[in-house]
Amino acid sequence: MVIQTKNIGIEISGKKIFSNMSLNINRNEMIAITGPSGSGKTTLLNCLGLIQSVSNGEIMIENQKASNWNEKEKTNFWKKSAAFIYQDYGIIEDENVCYNVTLNKRQAKSKFVEEILQTVGLEGRSQEMAAVLSGGEKQRLGVARAIFKKATIIYADEPTASLDKNNREIIINLLRKCSQNGASVIIATHDERLVTVCDRRIDLV
Ligand SMILES: Nc1ncnc2c1ncn2[C@@H]1O[C@H](COP(=O)(O)OP(=O)(O)O)[C@@H](O)[C@H]1O
Ligand SMILES: [Mg+2]
Repeated sequence: MVIQTKNIGIEISGKKIFSNMSLNINRNEMIAITGPSGSGKTTLLNCLGLIQSVSNGEIMIENQKASNWNEKEKTNFWKKSAAFIYQDYGIIEDENVCYNVTLNKRQAKSKFVEEILQTVGLEGRSQEMAAVLSGGEKQRLGVARAIFKKATIIYADEPTASLDKNNREIIINLLRKCSQNGASVIIATHDERLVTVCDRRIDLV
């Protein structure tokens, strides 16, 4: 089991966002967190990614009690195993594409980066600044980073929102491919087309 939660719940300023949620998420699984706006999709995703702390219950990651990890352990997890594809952060606008993929090199020495850029449809663009990319291209760059770091868990928050049809399909297929290659992919979304491609959905109300 990659992620296991036991009766997790969160309260923010006295308001219950969700409670008693027990989940098992495996390798290769692509899971949609669905529900209306304000139902707690982003909050649950953040809890599963250890960005927000739960108020109750326990989160196990790779059989370790991750909900008890200290900052150093969490940072290590974010660095080594997790990738976040979130709309409003993650992309470093004033760095080039290569740097945004590798997070430490402006010029790639191996062919690996170029191969990944090809996979996400950004071939030949490694030296362009991220700021000039379109929304769809930035999302694809986020996926490229997840592939580069060989993330075992990929968290995506509304990854297809505000994308055109073509970019939506590209992102859906890329995320599916990541899960087929071994990652657990957890996606907060209200895109029904994306949900149909997922293995299952967790519906919040
Ligand atoms: N930091 C916060 N402080 C107060 N309320 C919050 C905070 N984060 C989320 N909420 C509330 O939690 C609920 C769920 O939010 P969210 O997880 O963003 O929902 P969704 O992603 O499904 O739209 C909303 O009512 C929101 O206002
Ligand atoms: Mg949200």
